[in-house]
Parts: sequence; structure tokens; C-alpha cells
Amino acid sequence: MKFKYKACVVGGCGHVGLPLAITLADAGLNTAILDINEKAVKTINSGIVPFKEIGAEEKLIKVLKNKKLTTSTNNSIISESEYVVIIIGTPIDRHLNPKIEDIHKVTRQIIPFIKNGQTIILRSTVYPGTSRMIAELLRKNNKKVKLAFCPERIAQGYAIEEIKSLPQIIGGIDKASEKSAIKLFSKIADETIVISLEEAELAKLFTNAWRYIQFATANQFFMIADQKGLDFHKILHAIKHNYPRAKNFPGAGLAAGPCLFKDTMQIAAFNNNQFFLGHAAMLINEGFPDYIITKLKAKYDLKKSRVGILGMSFKADNDDKRDSLAYKLKKVLEIEAREVLCTDVYIKEPGFVNPKTLIKNSDIIIVATPHKEYKKLRFKTKQKIVDIWNFYKKGGTI
Ligand SMILES: NC(=O)c1ccc[n+]([C@@H]2O[C@H](COP(=O)([O-])OP(=O)(O)OC[C@H]3O[C@@H](n4cnc5c(N)ncnc54)[C@H](O)[C@@H]3O)[C@@H](O)[C@H]2O)c1
Repeated sequence: MKFKYKACVVGGCGHVGLPLAITLADAGLNTAILDINEKAVKTINSGIVPFKEIGAEEKLIKVLKNKKLTTSTNNSIISESEYVVIIIGTPIDRHLNPKIEDIHKVTRQIIPFIKNGQTIILRSTVYPGTSRMIAELLRKNNKKVKLAFCPERIAQGYAIEEIKSLPQIIGGIDKASEKSAIKLFSKIADETIVISLEEAELAKLFTNAWRYIQFATANQFFMIADQKGLDFHKILHAIKHNYPRAKNFPGAGLAAGPCLFKDTMQIAAFNNNQFFLGHAAMLINEGFPDYIITKLKAKYDLKKSRVGILGMSFKADNDDKRDSLAYKLKKVLEIEAREVLCTDVYIKEPGFVNPKTLIKNSDIIIVATPHKEYKKLRFKTKQKIVDIWNFYKKGGTI
């Protein structure tokens, strides 16, 4: 059967869907985006990437111009695509359990438009067993399709570069599905790694939990040293300097965002809530803002202090504020301090001030997100700077 599009990316206006759609189109494949977000579709059609993603916009403009990329809010575009790549959000609920219903919902939404012979690729991070459930749902609806789970492993902000350079993990429901998924990803990446469907699902979750636990280790070490008045940053330097086995030891910092925490909790849910390392990491990482505030309270009269939060997004040099711990800091400080001032290079919100105003009016400044634009800021001499990242390379304790 001849299809108009090589691939349709469902959720293609999102943080990971859009870079993938652009990359496929840039590789010369006729690519479609299906998304329910009409505003994002309009923005993308005008050649604007609605979030910060290095190198994405110039490629977007190019693929729109050469008509390799089409966007739609109409499900019928599914019928015209050889591959259907699903990459919608997969959050956890208030019980920290995966909201599996979202991926079922989107599958039911596109089922009427699915044609026999197509390949369905799940690229959202999913709870183990989801891909097989989706395959079963399709089979029950008499859809004779191939299905594979191929997780996205890019670091947000660096997707355009990383989609091509990272090996693509592929888990197919059968050999034909595996082969079909390899065929697509070989067009954009040099390396593919084949494992089973469920192994691929776990591989993605393990990747994120591993990072989350590593950050928690550094954060707990920071708190242990800091509580005793010892400089964690000096200790870290001593550990890492010319010592190959500690090369990848991360520094301390606020570890959050839309993926690491929720994917760690998905493993816990998968393992009968028996994920001690994961739960410990959650307590440490999510507890870091409280540690900072408790420490400040012991030293300063916060009720008389103005506290400035420098950077609000969940990570440096990015504009994504989803699940950012800077907002947790803000929330608690609004109770504990006289006043809280916030600033971010990329996020404009009512009440936010510019860095100059923040420095002028704050007694204490917490570097929550070390955007590179803040490197050259000059603070007042008597100002307390809380720099858990050691962004300004001055070391010290809180
Ligand atoms: N953000 C990351 O850095 C990252 C990295 C790797 C993997 N992931 C995983 O990728 C998935 C997507 O994450 P994201 O950050 O891109 O989310 P996102 O919210 O930025 O994007 C999801 C997109 O799906 C669209 N959408 C939602 N429901 C839809 C529907 N029924 N039909 C069509 N479109 C629909 C939304 O409008 C949105 O544009 C998640 O499973 C996440 O865990 C994210």
C-alpha cells in the first residue's frame, strides 16, 4: 500500500515529538504531525518552535519550506502514514501511579483511522506492559499492524543533536515489527539496539531512575557535609580530580522536571511499591528546597528577609518550568519569608522581576536554576548567595 507520509508523529507539537518530526522531515521523509493543540500547530506552521530547543527552529523553517513537514489536528492524517509514532505525555497521578488511560485514550482516538499494514511505534515513556496492552487493543479492533516500543532518550534542549547521535533502542512485538522499526530509525540514527518489548520499556525507565538516583546521591552528600559545616564542593573536587572512577559523579542541584521523578515512580508502581532506592531519591531530591530553607531559617530571620530566586525553569538554559523545584522553593518561602522575588531569563510571569531588581532588593539570593546568562551577574557584598550548584565556583556552605 502506498502512503502519502512516511511517518505521522502523534503529539508532534510536544517537547520530544516536534524534534523527532523535524528530524524525520529533515532526513527527506514526508512527515506529518497530528496534535490536539491548535495554538501550537499554528505557531509551528509559522516557523516558530514554541519552546527552547537548540537548532530546531532553522530546521523547522527549512522542512516547512521544502514541504517535507505537514501539521494537522485532524485524525484522518493517520490513514495516510506508513508509520504512526505516538509520543504524548505519560504523567503519574496523585497516588504517584502511571496514568495509563491517556495512552489508551489516544489509541482509541486513532483506531478508526489505522490501516492494516501500518507500523505503530510507541515513543512515550510507558509503564511496563503498556505496549503489549496497546497491541492487544489494536488486535481486538481487527487491526493487522506491526508494533514496536522505541523510547526517546534525548536531553530536553539538545534533541536535534542527540536523536541522531544516540543509539535507538527497539523492542518489537514480533520480528516483522522489529525490522520495520529498525528500518525507520536507521534513516536518522547510526545505531539501533534490539531487545524485547518489555525490556525496552524497562530500559527507558531504568535510564531515568539511574540519573535521578545519581543526582540524589550527590544531593544527600551535599546535605551531610553542609550540615557539619563542611564544603561539599571542595570534597567533590578532591574526589574527582584525576580520579577516573569518579569522573561522572554529578554535583549537587535541584533535580526535577517532567521525566526523572515520574519515571522513577513508575518503576515503584511496577514493583509493588518496593523501590527503596527510587523512593529514597525522591525524598532527597524533593526535600532539597526544604533543607535549604531550614538551613537559612537557622541562620537568618527570614520573616524580616527578602529572598530572591534566580532561575525558575527545571533545568539550566531551558524554558520548561514543568515540575520545577524552584516553584516549590517559592511556595514555601512565601510562607516563611517577608517577601519572595523571582526571575527567569526564559519565563515571563506576572510578578517576576528582572535580575537587576532582584539583586537590588533581596537580602538572600538562591540560585535555583543556573542559566548561563547569570554567570556575569554582580551581587552586593553583604548579600547571602545560596549556590548549591557551585555555579559561581566560590564553594562554601549554606
Ligand atoms: N521531555 C523530555 O525531555 C522527554 C525525554 C524523553 C522522553 N520523554 C517522554 O516523551 C513523552 C512526551 O513528553 P513531552 O515532554 O514531549 O510532552 P509534551 O506535553 O511536551 O507533548 C505532548 C504533546 O502531545 C499532544 N497530545 C496530547 N494528547 C493528544 C492526543 N490525544 N492526540 C494528539 N496529540 C496529543 C499535546 O498537545 C502535546 O503537544 C512522555 O512520555 C515523556 O515521558 C520526554
